[in-house]
Amino acid sequence: MQSLILTLPDDWHLHLRDGAALADTVPAAARQFGRGLVMPNLRPPVVTVARAREYREEILRARPPGSAWKPLMALYLTDNTAVEELRAAHASGLIVGVKYYPAGATTNSDSGVTRLEHVAPLLAEMERLDLPLLLHGEVTDPEVDIFDREAVFIERELTPLARRFPALRIVLEHVTTREGVDFVAAAPARIVATITPQHLLFNRNHLLAGGLRPHFYCLPILKRDVHQAALVAAATGGSGKFFLGTDSAPHPRTMKESSCGCAGCFSHHAALELYALAFERAGALDRLEGFASHFGADFYGLPRNAETVTLERTPWQLPETLSLGGEPLVPLAAGETLAWRMAARQPQAMP
Ligand code: NCD
Ligand code: ZN
Repeated sequence: MQSLILTLPDDWHLHLRDGAALADTVPAAARQFGRGLVMPNLRPPVVTVARAREYREEILRARPPGSAWKPLMALYLTDNTAVEELRAAHASGLIVGVKYYPAGATTNSDSGVTRLEHVAPLLAEMERLDLPLLLHGEVTDPEVDIFDREAVFIERELTPLARRFPALRIVLEHVTTREGVDFVAAAPARIVATITPQHLLFNRNHLLAGGLRPHFYCLPILKRDVHQAALVAAATGGSGKFFLGTDSAPHPRTMKESSCGCAGCFSHHAALELYALAFERAGALDRLEGFASHFGADFYGLPRNAETVTLERTPWQLPETLSLGGEPLVPLAAGETLAWRMAARQPQAMP
Protein backbone atom coordinates (compact mmCIF):
# COMPACT_ATOMS: atom_id res chain seq x y z
CA MET A 1 0.00 0.00 0.00
CA GLN A 2 1.43 3.38 -1.02
CA SER A 3 -1.28 5.73 0.17
CA LEU A 4 -4.15 5.71 2.59
CA ILE A 5 -7.15 8.06 2.62
CA LEU A 6 -8.78 8.72 5.99
CA THR A 7 -11.59 10.87 7.30
CA LEU A 8 -9.92 13.96 8.81
CA PRO A 9 -9.04 12.93 12.41
CA ASP A 10 -9.76 14.80 15.65
CA ASP A 11 -7.57 15.02 18.75
CA TRP A 12 -9.62 14.36 21.87
CA HIS A 13 -6.89 15.41 24.35
CA LEU A 14 -4.29 18.10 23.77
CA HIS A 15 -2.50 20.94 25.55
CA LEU A 16 -2.09 24.22 23.67
CA ARG A 17 -0.78 26.40 26.57
CA ASP A 18 -1.43 30.16 26.25
CA GLY A 19 0.28 33.44 25.38
CA ALA A 20 3.11 33.31 22.83
CA ALA A 21 2.99 29.48 22.65
CA LEU A 22 -0.36 29.58 20.82
CA ALA A 23 1.30 30.92 17.66
CA ASP A 24 3.10 27.55 17.45
CA THR A 25 0.68 25.09 19.05
CA VAL A 26 -2.53 26.13 17.30
CA PRO A 27 -1.24 25.89 13.71
CA ALA A 28 0.33 22.52 14.56
CA ALA A 29 -3.03 21.22 15.86
CA ALA A 30 -4.93 22.67 12.89
CA ARG A 31 -2.62 21.05 10.33
CA GLN A 32 -3.63 17.44 11.02
CA PHE A 33 -6.94 17.60 12.85
CA GLY A 34 -10.51 18.81 12.38
CA ARG A 35 -11.15 19.43 16.07
CA GLY A 36 -9.18 19.40 19.30
CA LEU A 37 -10.36 18.98 22.87
CA VAL A 38 -8.19 21.53 24.67
CA MET A 39 -7.11 20.72 28.22
CA PRO A 40 -7.69 23.42 30.83
CA ASN A 41 -4.52 23.07 32.97
CA LEU A 42 -3.24 26.60 32.47
CA ARG A 43 -1.85 28.66 35.29
CA PRO A 44 -4.34 29.62 36.68
CA PRO A 45 -6.56 26.78 35.41
CA VAL A 46 -9.70 27.30 33.32
CA VAL A 47 -12.31 26.90 36.05
CA THR A 48 -15.16 29.05 34.75
CA VAL A 49 -17.18 29.19 31.57
CA ALA A 50 -16.24 32.85 31.17
CA ARG A 51 -12.55 31.97 31.24
CA ALA A 52 -13.06 29.04 28.82
CA ARG A 53 -14.81 31.42 26.43
CA GLU A 54 -11.92 33.90 26.65
CA TYR A 55 -9.30 31.18 26.22
CA ARG A 56 -11.19 29.87 23.19
CA GLU A 57 -11.12 33.34 21.63
CA GLU A 58 -7.33 33.52 22.19
CA ILE A 59 -6.97 30.15 20.52
CA LEU A 60 -9.15 31.16 17.57
CA ARG A 61 -7.03 34.28 17.03
CA ALA A 62 -3.99 32.01 16.58
CA ARG A 63 -5.73 29.84 13.99
CA PRO A 64 -4.07 29.99 10.56
CA PRO A 65 -5.99 32.00 7.93
CA GLY A 66 -8.55 29.84 6.17
CA SER A 67 -8.42 27.04 8.74
CA ALA A 68 -11.71 25.48 9.84
CA TRP A 69 -10.08 23.64 12.79
CA LYS A 70 -12.26 23.89 15.90
CA PRO A 71 -11.21 24.03 19.55
CA LEU A 72 -13.57 22.20 21.93
CA MET A 73 -13.19 23.24 25.55
CA ALA A 74 -13.04 21.46 28.90
CA LEU A 75 -13.65 22.92 32.35
CA TYR A 76 -11.16 22.20 35.14
CA LEU A 77 -12.90 20.62 38.13
CA THR A 78 -11.88 21.78 41.62
CA ASP A 79 -13.20 21.13 45.12
CA ASN A 80 -14.91 24.52 44.83
CA THR A 81 -16.57 24.26 41.42
CA ALA A 82 -20.17 25.48 41.68
CA VAL A 83 -23.05 23.40 40.37
CA GLU A 84 -24.23 26.51 38.48
CA GLU A 85 -20.90 26.57 36.62
CA LEU A 86 -21.53 23.04 35.37
CA ARG A 87 -25.00 24.02 34.19
CA ALA A 88 -23.54 27.05 32.41
CA ALA A 89 -20.86 24.84 30.85
CA HIS A 90 -23.47 22.48 29.53
CA ALA A 91 -25.60 25.33 28.20
CA SER A 92 -22.61 27.11 26.60
CA GLY A 93 -22.30 24.74 23.66
CA LEU A 94 -18.51 25.29 23.83
CA ILE A 95 -17.61 22.94 26.67
CA VAL A 96 -17.79 19.24 25.96
CA GLY A 97 -16.35 17.80 29.16
CA VAL A 98 -15.08 18.43 32.68
CA LYS A 99 -11.49 17.51 33.51
CA TYR A 100 -10.67 15.83 36.78
CA TYR A 101 -7.06 16.06 37.95
CA PRO A 102 -6.28 14.53 41.31
CA ALA A 103 -4.53 17.46 43.08
CA GLY A 104 -0.80 17.36 42.32
CA ALA A 105 -0.94 14.46 39.84
CA THR A 106 0.73 16.23 36.92
CA THR A 107 1.73 19.54 35.27
CA ASN A 108 -0.38 22.44 36.68
CA SER A 109 -2.75 20.24 38.66
CA ASP A 110 -2.28 21.89 42.07
CA SER A 111 -5.87 23.16 42.08
CA GLY A 112 -7.26 19.72 41.25
CA VAL A 113 -9.65 17.66 43.32
CA THR A 114 -8.33 16.59 46.74
CA ARG A 115 -10.95 13.89 47.39
CA LEU A 116 -13.64 12.43 45.18
CA GLU A 117 -16.06 12.70 48.09
CA HIS A 118 -15.81 16.51 47.87
CA VAL A 119 -17.10 16.59 44.32
CA ALA A 120 -19.78 13.86 44.50
CA PRO A 121 -22.67 16.38 44.15
CA LEU A 122 -20.93 17.84 41.08
CA LEU A 123 -20.54 14.42 39.50
CA ALA A 124 -24.23 13.75 40.16
CA GLU A 125 -25.07 16.96 38.32
CA MET A 126 -22.79 16.04 35.41
CA GLU A 127 -24.50 12.69 35.24
CA ARG A 128 -27.87 14.46 35.08
CA LEU A 129 -26.65 16.91 32.41
CA ASP A 130 -24.86 14.14 30.50
CA LEU A 131 -21.63 16.13 30.64
CA PRO A 132 -18.67 13.71 30.33
CA LEU A 133 -16.03 13.41 33.04
CA LEU A 134 -12.48 13.40 31.65
CA LEU A 135 -10.17 11.63 34.07
CA HIS A 136 -6.50 11.91 34.72
CA GLY A 137 -6.57 8.40 36.16
CA GLU A 138 -3.75 8.29 38.69
CA VAL A 139 -3.69 8.36 42.48
CA THR A 140 -1.31 10.86 44.05
CA ASP A 141 -0.74 8.92 47.28
CA PRO A 142 3.05 9.23 47.78
CA GLU A 143 3.09 5.65 49.14
CA VAL A 144 2.01 4.28 45.76
CA ASP A 145 4.80 3.57 43.28
CA ILE A 146 4.62 5.83 40.23
CA PHE A 147 4.33 2.82 37.91
CA ASP A 148 1.28 1.58 39.85
CA ARG A 149 -0.63 4.84 40.14
CA GLU A 150 -3.05 4.14 37.30
CA ALA A 151 -3.82 0.56 38.35
CA VAL A 152 -4.42 1.70 41.94
CA PHE A 153 -6.63 4.56 40.72
CA ILE A 154 -8.79 2.09 38.82
CA GLU A 155 -9.20 -0.12 41.84
CA ARG A 156 -9.61 2.57 44.52
CA GLU A 157 -11.36 5.39 42.67
CA LEU A 158 -12.68 4.52 39.23
CA THR A 159 -14.40 1.24 40.05
CA PRO A 160 -16.49 2.75 42.90
CA LEU A 161 -17.07 5.95 40.90
CA ALA A 162 -18.47 4.07 37.90
CA ARG A 163 -20.79 2.15 40.24
CA ARG A 164 -21.96 5.18 42.16
CA PHE A 165 -22.83 7.16 39.02
CA PRO A 166 -24.27 4.53 36.71
CA ALA A 167 -25.12 6.91 33.85
CA LEU A 168 -22.08 9.23 34.04
CA ARG A 169 -20.04 9.18 30.84
CA ILE A 170 -16.36 8.79 31.63
CA VAL A 171 -13.20 9.07 29.54
CA LEU A 172 -10.13 7.46 31.07
CA GLU A 173 -7.65 9.84 29.42
CA HIS A 174 -4.29 8.60 28.16
CA VAL A 175 -4.75 5.04 29.43
CA THR A 176 -1.35 3.39 29.93
CA THR A 177 -1.85 -0.03 31.53
CA ARG A 178 -3.31 -3.45 30.90
CA GLU A 179 -5.49 -2.88 33.97
CA GLY A 180 -6.87 0.31 32.42
CA VAL A 181 -7.55 -1.35 29.08
CA ASP A 182 -9.24 -4.32 30.76
CA PHE A 183 -11.42 -2.06 32.89
CA VAL A 184 -12.61 0.01 29.93
CA ALA A 185 -13.13 -3.01 27.66
CA ALA A 186 -15.32 -4.70 30.29
CA ALA A 187 -17.25 -1.52 31.20
CA PRO A 188 -20.51 -0.36 29.62
CA ALA A 189 -20.39 1.78 26.46
CA ARG A 190 -20.47 5.03 28.48
CA ILE A 191 -16.87 4.39 29.66
CA VAL A 192 -14.13 4.88 27.05
CA ALA A 193 -10.44 5.77 26.87
CA THR A 194 -8.01 7.82 24.80
CA ILE A 195 -4.54 6.53 23.87
CA THR A 196 -1.42 8.58 23.06
CA PRO A 197 1.17 7.85 20.35
CA GLN A 198 3.99 7.65 22.90
CA HIS A 199 2.28 4.92 24.90
CA LEU A 200 1.71 2.87 21.72
CA LEU A 201 5.25 3.23 20.42
CA PHE A 202 7.41 3.28 23.50
CA ASN A 203 7.83 1.69 26.92
CA ARG A 204 9.85 2.52 30.01
CA ASN A 205 13.04 1.09 28.52
CA HIS A 206 12.97 3.90 25.98
CA LEU A 207 12.82 6.35 28.87
CA LEU A 208 15.29 4.73 31.25
CA ALA A 209 17.58 2.09 29.70
CA GLY A 210 21.04 3.13 28.45
CA GLY A 211 20.61 6.72 29.63
CA LEU A 212 17.76 8.89 30.89
CA ARG A 213 15.78 10.35 27.98
CA PRO A 214 13.68 13.20 29.35
CA HIS A 215 11.77 13.74 26.11
CA PHE A 216 10.01 10.43 26.73
CA TYR A 217 8.92 11.57 30.19
CA CYS A 218 5.20 12.16 30.43
CA LEU A 219 2.42 11.36 32.88
CA PRO A 220 1.11 8.80 33.28
CA ILE A 221 4.68 7.53 32.90
CA LEU A 222 5.58 5.00 30.16
CA LYS A 223 5.06 1.48 31.52
CA ARG A 224 6.69 -1.89 30.77
CA ASP A 225 6.28 -3.60 27.41
CA VAL A 226 3.37 -5.87 28.40
CA HIS A 227 1.29 -2.75 29.02
CA GLN A 228 2.40 -1.25 25.72
CA ALA A 229 1.25 -4.46 24.00
CA ALA A 230 -2.16 -4.27 25.71
CA LEU A 231 -2.57 -0.67 24.52
CA VAL A 232 -1.66 -1.59 20.95
CA ALA A 233 -4.17 -4.45 21.03
CA ALA A 234 -6.87 -2.09 22.35
CA ALA A 235 -6.17 0.69 19.84
CA THR A 236 -6.00 -1.64 16.85
CA GLY A 237 -8.79 -3.98 17.94
CA GLY A 238 -11.57 -2.04 16.22
CA SER A 239 -13.50 -1.27 19.43
CA GLY A 240 -15.22 2.12 19.51
CA LYS A 241 -14.22 2.49 23.19
CA PHE A 242 -10.61 3.41 22.39
CA PHE A 243 -9.78 6.49 20.36
CA LEU A 244 -7.16 9.09 19.57
CA GLY A 245 -6.03 11.61 22.17
CA THR A 246 -2.42 12.64 21.67
CA ASP A 247 -1.88 14.37 25.03
CA SER A 248 0.52 16.53 23.03
CA ALA A 249 1.97 18.59 25.88
CA PRO A 250 4.77 20.95 24.88
CA HIS A 251 7.45 22.18 27.27
CA PRO A 252 10.54 24.18 26.23
CA ARG A 253 13.72 22.11 25.99
CA THR A 254 15.22 23.81 29.06
CA MET A 255 12.26 22.66 31.17
CA LYS A 256 12.64 19.04 30.00
CA GLU A 257 16.45 18.77 30.13
CA SER A 258 16.66 19.76 33.75
CA SER A 259 17.45 18.30 37.18
CA CYS A 260 13.67 18.32 37.78
CA GLY A 261 12.17 18.06 34.30
CA CYS A 262 8.54 18.63 33.32
CA ALA A 263 6.23 15.80 32.20
CA GLY A 264 4.82 15.99 28.69
CA CYS A 265 5.66 14.97 25.10
CA PHE A 266 4.91 17.18 22.11
CA SER A 267 3.61 15.09 19.19
CA HIS A 268 1.68 17.45 16.90
CA HIS A 269 4.56 17.69 14.41
CA ALA A 270 3.74 14.12 13.30
CA ALA A 271 0.84 12.78 15.37
CA LEU A 272 -1.03 10.96 12.63
CA GLU A 273 2.18 9.50 11.21
CA LEU A 274 3.27 8.24 14.63
CA TYR A 275 -0.09 6.51 15.09
CA ALA A 276 0.26 5.10 11.55
CA LEU A 277 3.60 3.58 12.54
CA ALA A 278 2.05 1.87 15.57
CA PHE A 279 -0.88 0.55 13.52
CA GLU A 280 1.35 -0.64 10.69
CA ARG A 281 3.60 -2.51 13.13
CA ALA A 282 0.48 -4.27 14.42
CA GLY A 283 -0.63 -5.10 10.86
CA ALA A 284 -3.76 -3.01 11.41
CA LEU A 285 -3.49 0.08 9.21
CA ASP A 286 -7.06 -0.61 8.09
CA ARG A 287 -8.19 0.10 11.68
CA LEU A 288 -6.49 3.49 11.92
CA GLU A 289 -9.44 5.46 10.56
CA GLY A 290 -11.94 4.24 13.14
CA PHE A 291 -9.54 5.00 16.00
CA ALA A 292 -8.34 8.36 14.66
CA SER A 293 -11.42 9.76 12.96
CA HIS A 294 -14.68 8.03 13.91
CA PHE A 295 -14.92 6.71 17.46
CA GLY A 296 -14.16 9.94 19.35
CA ALA A 297 -16.72 11.97 17.41
CA ASP A 298 -19.27 9.19 17.93
CA PHE A 299 -18.68 9.18 21.71
CA TYR A 300 -19.07 12.97 21.98
CA GLY A 301 -22.18 12.87 19.79
CA LEU A 302 -20.60 15.09 17.13
CA PRO A 303 -20.63 14.50 13.38
CA ARG A 304 -17.62 12.82 11.84
CA ASN A 305 -15.54 15.22 9.71
CA ALA A 306 -16.50 15.41 6.04
CA GLU A 307 -12.99 16.23 4.81
CA THR A 308 -10.37 13.54 4.18
CA VAL A 309 -6.59 13.42 4.56
CA THR A 310 -4.08 11.30 2.68
CA LEU A 311 -1.15 9.45 4.19
CA GLU A 312 1.59 8.67 1.68
CA ARG A 313 4.44 6.21 1.98
CA THR A 314 7.19 8.82 1.71
CA PRO A 315 10.02 8.42 4.23
CA TRP A 316 10.85 11.68 6.01
CA GLN A 317 12.92 12.76 8.95
CA LEU A 318 11.32 14.36 11.96
CA PRO A 319 12.82 17.70 13.04
CA GLU A 320 15.33 17.76 15.92
CA THR A 321 13.86 20.94 17.34
CA LEU A 322 10.86 23.20 16.86
CA SER A 323 9.85 26.49 18.46
CA LEU A 324 7.53 27.04 21.39
CA GLY A 325 6.86 30.74 21.82
CA GLY A 326 10.40 31.52 20.69
CA GLU A 327 12.10 28.85 22.82
CA PRO A 328 13.51 25.57 21.47
CA LEU A 329 11.28 22.51 21.89
CA VAL A 330 12.29 18.90 21.26
CA PRO A 331 9.38 16.95 19.76
CA LEU A 332 8.57 13.28 20.29
CA ALA A 333 10.87 10.94 18.31
CA ALA A 334 13.00 13.93 17.23
CA GLY A 335 15.33 13.13 14.32
CA GLU A 336 13.75 9.70 13.64
CA THR A 337 12.68 8.67 10.13
CA LEU A 338 9.02 7.77 9.58
CA ALA A 339 7.59 5.78 6.66
CA TRP A 340 4.25 7.59 6.35
CA ARG A 341 3.67 11.27 5.80
CA MET A 342 0.44 13.20 5.65
CA ALA A 343 -0.02 15.07 2.36
CA ALA A 344 -0.60 18.83 2.67
CA ARG A 345 -4.31 19.69 2.85
CA GLN A 346 -6.11 22.23 0.71
CA PRO A 347 -6.95 25.40 2.66
CA GLN A 348 -10.46 25.08 4.05
CA ALA A 349 -13.23 27.62 4.08
CA MET A 350 -13.94 29.26 7.44
CA PRO A 351 -17.04 27.73 9.07
C1 NCD B 1 0.58 17.29 30.70
C2 NCD B 1 1.03 18.74 30.59
O1 NCD B 1 2.24 18.98 30.42
O2 NCD B 1 0.19 19.64 30.65
N1 NCD B 1 1.73 16.46 30.89
C3 NCD B 1 1.81 15.14 30.61
O3 NCD B 1 2.86 14.54 30.91
N2 NCD B 1 0.85 14.49 30.05
C4 NCD B 1 -0.41 17.14 31.79
C5 NCD B 1 -1.18 15.84 31.74
O4 NCD B 1 -2.00 15.63 30.85
O5 NCD B 1 -0.95 15.02 32.62
ZN1 ZN C 1 -2.87 15.75 29.10
